[in-house]
Amino acid sequence: MSEEKAILTIGDKQIELPVYTGTEGERAVDISKLYEEHGLMTFDPSLANTGLCRSTITFIDGEQGILRYRGIPLEEFANSKPNFIEVAWLLIFGTLPKEQEILDFRQMLTERALLHEGIRQHIELMPQGAPPMAILSAGINKMVCYYKRFLTLDDDDQFADAAAQLISQIRTIAAHSYRRSQGLPVMYPDPAMRYCANFLHMMFSLPYRQYEVAPEIEDAMNLLLILHADHEQNCSTATVRVVGSAQANLFASCASGVSALWGPLHGGANVKVMEMLESIYQGGLSPEECLEAAKDKANPFKLFGFGHRVYKNYDPRAKILKDSCDRVFAILKQKDPLLDVARKLEELALKDQYFIDRKLYPNVDFYSGILLRAIGIPTNMFTVLFAIGRLPGWIAHWKEQHDNPTRRIIRPRQLYVGNNQSHYVPVEER
Ligand code: SDX
Repeated sequence: MSEEKAILTIGDKQIELPVYTGTEGERAVDISKLYEEHGLMTFDPSLANTGLCRSTITFIDGEQGILRYRGIPLEEFANSKPNFIEVAWLLIFGTLPKEQEILDFRQMLTERALLHEGIRQHIELMPQGAPPMAILSAGINKMVCYYKRFLTLDDDDQFADAAAQLISQIRTIAAHSYRRSQGLPVMYPDPAMRYCANFLHMMFSLPYRQYEVAPEIEDAMNLLLILHADHEQNCSTATVRVVGSAQANLFASCASGVSALWGPLHGGANVKVMEMLESIYQGGLSPEECLEAAKDKANPFKLFGFGHRVYKNYDPRAKILKDSCDRVFAILKQKDPLLDVARKLEELALKDQYFIDRKLYPNVDFYSGILLRAIGIPTNMFTVLFAIGRLPGWIAHWKEQHDNPTRRIIRPRQLYVGNNQSHYVPVEER
């Protein structure tokens, strides 16, 4: 129950509104009865000032650059031996899994890794240059065509079954789509391998030569997926909630999340960052010209990988990724000139008044591509890897909303600014 009140004065009317305070002190004015009781709506086109729900999954403090999964700081997952499946469990089921819970979940993933031949054949029929995100979204939706039991999830066991199916098979669909794009035969999942190693095996092994997964690469892959696992009400997660609020099934809701993530202002930015860095490196724009283009309002160019709706400080994920690049390159005895380009660009931007005034810092996408490239992931698969990482977050938010007894369909209002009433005119009189 809210103690604090806000007063909205409009005309000679004063409307009292409840004010709620979140666990970390953020405050929200409850306007949920405003239209029903006063015929008034608020106006917030990008929902930047609007809380969609109460959630216990992820906390972000954009001013401080804080990100916590179920209260645990992101950095603590990066320091220990990164284990994506452990984090997926934490986000979805709310607690750190016990040893047996991890073993059981891992077994569920192993048993569900193989695609139905119908889905595999559908991927085979895709044109070779088909966008991987289109294949991924279609593949996730298609699962319910072959596994009708997932259309309605009536209890926790059915939900866990569906979650394991999605998390396991998103990886297989992604790898198969990559193999299709390379004109290579698919590699089937190896039940002896753990999550990330199995994905890399399906991506890079050949029928006559097993891809040897270096432990450091497997760790880097786990870390990358952990860093992308959830981010409260970002565009794609909010999309999953909107679609799920209509009681659409979990697979249709997550497939819609893939579509939203594809956008270059969201998950698609990691591809745009690499194209930007590559063009600077190849002697296109200089870093300085890049910044000027990004600041020019007449120029649609943005400094991809910079800026964030919530972070007005350094994205903690970007910090971890930047440090990981150094570590992985040292281990692999590799260098990537694009890392030097990225560093130069960051250095210039962080000193530039335009970026300082707008609190524009590197976000998760600025360095992720360099690490993905070091692992051997091709650029056109970067956003697919983002989706593999983000899937547990989508599932967790879908479940949190699904389990909420007061849930309602999400249906915003609008401010109509079109024609007043007019009348139909027959075509011969127009
Ligand atoms: C992700 O929401 C999430 O949590 C997303 C995400 C997640 O984990 O789910 O963190 C993942 O999507 C990260 C963001 C990836 N996108 C990009 O890197 C694309 C480049 N960034 C921008 O498009 C932008 O910063 C957004 C989309 C990320 C945020 O957009 P907002 O909040 O609507 O900010 P805005 O466009 O209103 O920008 C405010 C000002 C504007 O200038 P003014 O009108 O005040 O003069 O900052 C400028 C913008 O033009 N600006 C940029 C810029 N980002 C903002 N100018 C140049 N380059 C940029 N990158």
